[in-house]
Amino acid sequence: MIRPILKYGDAPLHEKARPVDELTPEIDRLIDDMIDTMYAAPGVGLAAPQVGVALRLFVVDVSVGRDSGGLMVFVNPEFVERDGTQLEEEGCLSVPGFNATVVRPMRAVLRGFDREWQQRTVEATGLLARAFQHEMDHLDGTVFVDRLRGIKRDLIVRKIRKLTRAGKW
Ligand code: NI
Repeated sequence: MIRPILKYGDAPLHEKARPVDELTPEIDRLIDDMIDTMYAAPGVGLAAPQVGVALRLFVVDVSVGRDSGGLMVFVNPEFVERDGTQLEEEGCLSVPGFNATVVRPMRAVLRGFDREWQQRTVEATGLLARAFQHEMDHLDGTVFVDRLRGIKRDLIVRKIRKLTRAGKW
């Protein structure tokens, strides 16, 4: 089932999510719904706070369904290593219509649990490392706009406020 995606300004997107204690049938449904919602958007990743659930879990597929092994589910993920830097355009399903260049690590090693509660460690570079960092940010209440500075950030925030006032956000 596709769930509505919250937008920048909605409270759950700006709050720190709490760890998942156990994988209940409800969380299993949530994961299914997040996968459906991500592919329908379409997007390369979706974190639980984006559908209003303050739990540390996200789904990611940088192939957007093209590779059968592309889909990953991470529950209670943590970075083991991060190094290097990359500078690329980035967007977010919760900030539709806006893109900006964001500094991210070039390489990231992430450890967490899959939906069978098996621990997994994944080493990523490039786009996947960027996606990991972007989704991990969501679990801490950070949206890519918050990573921007000065005029760039102000411009996007001002435009979002304007759209919100006009009832178009
Ligand atoms: Ni996002």
